[in-house]
Amino acid sequence: MNIANRIHGLFQSQFGQKPLIVRSPGRVNLIGEHTDYNNGFVLPAAVDKAAYVAIAPSQDEVCHWIAADLNDTFTVRLNEMKFSEKGWPNYIMGVVEQLQRAGYAVKPFNCVMSGDVPIGAGMSSSAAMECAVGFALSELFKLTVSRTDLVKLAQKAENEFVGVKSGIMDQFASVFGKKDHAILLDCRSLEYEYFPIKMAGIRIVLMDTDVKHSLASSEYNTRRAQCEEGVRLLQKHDPTIQSLRDVSREFILQHQREFDPIVFNRCIYVIEENARLQSACGDLKRGDLLSFGQRMYGSHYGLRDMYEVSCAELDYLVSFTVTEEAVLGARMMGGGFGGCTINLVKEEAVEDLFERMKKAYKIAMGKDLKMYTAVIEDGTALINNAKF
Ligand code: GLA
Repeated sequence: MNIANRIHGLFQSQFGQKPLIVRSPGRVNLIGEHTDYNNGFVLPAAVDKAAYVAIAPSQDEVCHWIAADLNDTFTVRLNEMKFSEKGWPNYIMGVVEQLQRAGYAVKPFNCVMSGDVPIGAGMSSSAAMECAVGFALSELFKLTVSRTDLVKLAQKAENEFVGVKSGIMDQFASVFGKKDHAILLDCRSLEYEYFPIKMAGIRIVLMDTDVKHSLASSEYNTRRAQCEEGVRLLQKHDPTIQSLRDVSREFILQHQREFDPIVFNRCIYVIEENARLQSACGDLKRGDLLSFGQRMYGSHYGLRDMYEVSCAELDYLVSFTVTEEAVLGARMMGGGFGGCTINLVKEEAVEDLFERMKKAYKIAMGKDLKMYTAVIEDGTALINNAKF
């Protein structure tokens, strides 16, 4: 039985009502890491792993929520929401709070959550959940929230209620995903372009370190602050600069001596990653995946050495692939400090590569490697009720 059917059944048996079902996917990011909150560019795609919510109005004044995969429940009144140590209800409460602030009338509701986006693997299970809930509430109460507003308020929910100052990439990819396409997103204007990425004979493979990124949120917020510090310094020389997006490599190099060396490294990484992404899009247009793959390695080395958000396990998995003829490119993906590497691998070599990497990884790092192949799918949508 698939997830949608399962939560539909669970919802009916718990609440005796027929729910709406919404699916909102996790994402991969081909290149452009830690650029989104610097107003730069990213190249994500929505995948075949998603968060699902079954939802219907509550029969009383209280919201009853169920996390099916955790076997956990939560009840709350909409005017008494506050941060919960349980974790998962914060993603729902954060979205409700943002909808209310934007003037949308949210009434008490019941929901059942589930999903198959691996948690802590850097595939944005939290953004998927926020977008699923926001979209579901909009459908349920006929709020007609636009897709762009949904993305923005889901991001704000993460920033303000959950407390991670993440950029807009994850929510955008979840909501705007398109089957067989990556999204080239300008994170300043939110203009975007779909890139067909049916790469004949090549699979997008994720290797999961099995390291949960516990440092991720505090270090993430520190990186963001360091980038802002760099911008403030450069603004003294050119007040038109609003973000690292506006800074050229030449300009920052001219002012290198004024920088704290760590802040300099953070900033130059971001500037170079934006440039790398532009070149990588050129590669995709020409169908030059070899060159694209080399830029993925470039991105990894920048994240490891200059931005310092990698970890031994991620580095090990990327280095392993360097001498593999079947791997075109590899790099850590997402916030860092654990999670997955993303690899472009020749289809016929995927299984053999995984077997060898799994053995080597166990010996080197003492951990069990997991692999997912990412199929690029459509973004957030209602699942047709006729199917149940
Ligand atoms: C996390 C954040 C995103 C983005 C990436 C790094 O996934 O949620 O907004 O900043 O890290 O690229």
